[in-house]
Amino acid sequence: MTNPFVHDFTDKVVAVTGAGGVLCSDFAKAFAKAGAKVALLDLNEEAAQGYADEIVAAGGVAKAYKCNVLDKESIEAAKAGIDADLGTVDILVNGAGGNNARATTDNEFHETNMPEGTKSFFDLDQSGVEFVFNLNFLGTLLPTQVFAKDMVGRDGANIINISSMNAFTPLTKIPAYSGAKSAISNFTQWLAVHFSKAGIRCNAIAPGFLVSNQNRDLLFESD
Ligand SMILES: NC(=O)c1ccc[n+]([C@@H]2O[C@H](COP(=O)([O-])OP(=O)(O)OC[C@H]3O[C@@H](n4cnc5c(N)ncnc54)[C@H](O)[C@@H]3O)[C@@H](O)[C@H]2O)c1
Repeated sequence: MTNPFVHDFTDKVVAVTGAGGVLCSDFAKAFAKAGAKVALLDLNEEAAQGYADEIVAAGGVAKAYKCNVLDKESIEAAKAGIDADLGTVDILVNGAGGNNARATTDNEFHETNMPEGTKSFFDLDQSGVEFVFNLNFLGTLLPTQVFAKDMVGRDGANIINISSMNAFTPLTKIPAYSGAKSAISNFTQWLAVHFSKAGIRCNAIAPGFLVSNQNRDLLFESD
């Protein structure tokens, strides 16, 4: 990824969740290129480590941490490691998120006489819907609770959440993901007001559709 903007993040510590994935590994690299010390957090430690190694090989400062954004103890443990290795976090990117096949309909439109075995809206699995809402919403709220405590009153503190263009115009087939990302947009507005007197800027970005590990099956037929 080429970054058209010139920013200087020297001495800033940036924690990126989901940094073992496609988009957030690029965010981590871009922050490192701009001088930040970057903590790459992911459930998939190997993937995060691979990207941290790439950043270090390119002359940047980065460390990988295994972290489950749905488990507060795991987030606290990652934070303790970051505090000791890199320093207090200035910027948190809540990037871990995604959809799940159990919360995805097979067809774009409901039709009568769909072939046997077609997963319709009526067949969506409750636990799949819960998984998507938890991963995206709680997976943003819990790391924010853990990291924002030390950001209060800190110069240049910033929380960046990852919503989606789905939040504004839902794609077909993925109602839970679209709803969960709407919740992220709404939560970001809430956070921005809540922390407005505590010096923490809160923003969300809303990417469009980019092929990554979590949505490959929506674009391409599987074998
Ligand atoms: N790809 C797109 O088209 C698109 C569009 C809009 C928004 N987004 C959002 O951007 C963010 C990054 O998505 P991506 O497309 O790079 O996906 P990706 O699947 O490549 O990366 C997601 C990463 O999150 C990690 N993860 C999953 N569950 C976790 C957990 N419980 N704790 C910690 N890490 C966990 C995965 O291991 C993976 O490395 C997500 O929030 C996604 O919803 C993606």
